[in-house]
Amino acid sequence: IADVNGGPEQGLERIGERLSVRGWVRTCRMQRSITFIEVNDGSCISNLQCVMGSDVDGYDKVQSGLITTGASIFIDGVLVASEGSKQKVELKATKLILIGSSDPATFPVQKKKTSREYLRSVAHMRPRTNTFGAVSRVRNALAYATHKFFQDMGFVWVASPIITASDCEGAGQQFCATTLIPSSQEDTGCQISKIPGTKDGSIDWSQDFFGKPAFLTVSGQLNAEAYASALCDVYTFGPTFRAENSNTSRHLAEFWIIGAMIEPELAFANLNDDMACATAYLQYVLRYILDNCKEDMEFFNNWIEKGIIARLNNVAEKDFVQLTYTDAVNLLLKAKKKFQFPVKWGCDLQSEHERYITEEAFSGSPVIVTDYPKDIKAFYMRLNADGKTVAAMDVLVPKVGELIGGSQREDRLESLESRMEELGLNKETYWWYLDLRRYGSVPHAGFGLGFERLVQFATGMDNIRDVIPFPRTPGSAEF
Ligand code: 4AD
Ligand code: MG
Repeated sequence: IADVNGGPEQGLERIGERLSVRGWVRTCRMQRSITFIEVNDGSCISNLQCVMGSDVDGYDKVQSGLITTGASIFIDGVLVASEGSKQKVELKATKLILIGSSDPATFPVQKKKTSREYLRSVAHMRPRTNTFGAVSRVRNALAYATHKFFQDMGFVWVASPIITASDCEGAGQQFCATTLIPSSQEDTGCQISKIPGTKDGSIDWSQDFFGKPAFLTVSGQLNAEAYASALCDVYTFGPTFRAENSNTSRHLAEFWIIGAMIEPELAFANLNDDMACATAYLQYVLRYILDNCKEDMEFFNNWIEKGIIARLNNVAEKDFVQLTYTDAVNLLLKAKKKFQFPVKWGCDLQSEHERYITEEAFSGSPVIVTDYPKDIKAFYMRLNADGKTVAAMDVLVPKVGELIGGSQREDRLESLESRMEELGLNKETYWWYLDLRRYGSVPHAGFGLGFERLVQFATGMDNIRDVIPFPRTPGSAEF
């Protein structure tokens, strides 16, 4: 359907062609002598209107009331100019085949029941709606553009492990993976007491599947650094997991499980190279969807967030604002706005602060904040000459707050070791990471971008649960 409607003249150039369409019925309207069936095949927002008289092969299915919303059908016909005002062309059907019927009384995606909350409870059916169809296509285009950007720049895509012993961020937000037991085993319970070799809740790690505590990864960065230290520029793009007690106003004290993260790592690079890469990447993927997902973007512009197209165009064209953490704190201290969390030098910026900076202080421009205090950032960031701050950068954008977090990495063995000691990190767990500083260490930098946050930013969708196909949140792993 996108091929037909998306043509230069919205299908008019293809009039007279014999076409067939496979898809799902959105509506079926029977009038005296003609029936109109709106079919959607997921390729675009627009439906293809199919018209038929009672002489069409398969019309008996219409008559017996089986062509209902949600049913899957096949229609053969000829493309003709439409007399209706909503579309330029329509398919004059010659044959109709009902493939799978759909009981209208129980079909889960009724016109009346479309609240986001309700749709989350029927996550297997929500891609049938316009909103979720559009989100899925734009998400796909962003993923494609991500690979295209990095591939065109000569980066090598590296798969990072899902299960690991190292906590990259050192923030204790990992999910334990040690309860993994081969599913062939009869008892697949997840309680610690059921792990082989466990008695009274204490674990004998030598008996455990991995031989030591293992976790679901929070970030592929440390592994990416290993590959950047050999292949130069690399990136990862894969699932990451966080057991996060998020305290933003929108996600009060909920535990979120993040989806995919994109993590480029640049060798022989410093923080400026990192910021330039993040800016070019973000501008590229936004330009890509504005140019290639026009109909979906117009849908978001009309129904989800007014003005989003103009906003993204601006981001894709203008330079990002850049300021240090210290300047950001001073700016917040001078702000007239009352914040829920008070600000002082050394505090972590909360979502309300991040949003104030980008939305109000710099009227919607993305802002790159650099040089955070070392005490609120991860152990691997390069210590600045002042001994107090690190070469970190966060990219803040309207609505979302922190979209990207990155840094130049500590490439000096001694500095890294003393930082790890300060934080009480076990150097033995990170022996291989320290090796990268022992053998041919190079200045390098990288960043991580939460893919779901990018999809939220690019579509205007409010809730992160509505930009991931099957969200995993507390008590919900059903689909
Ligand atoms: O700032 P973070 O924690 O940085 C890292 O993980 C680094 N290892 C990245 C790197 O330098 N390679 O996370 C990076 C990004 C955030 O900016 C945010 O977009 C996303 O990951 N993110 C989340 N997205 C959704 N839900 C969460 N709970 C997220 N936590 C982080
Ligand atoms: Mg961060």
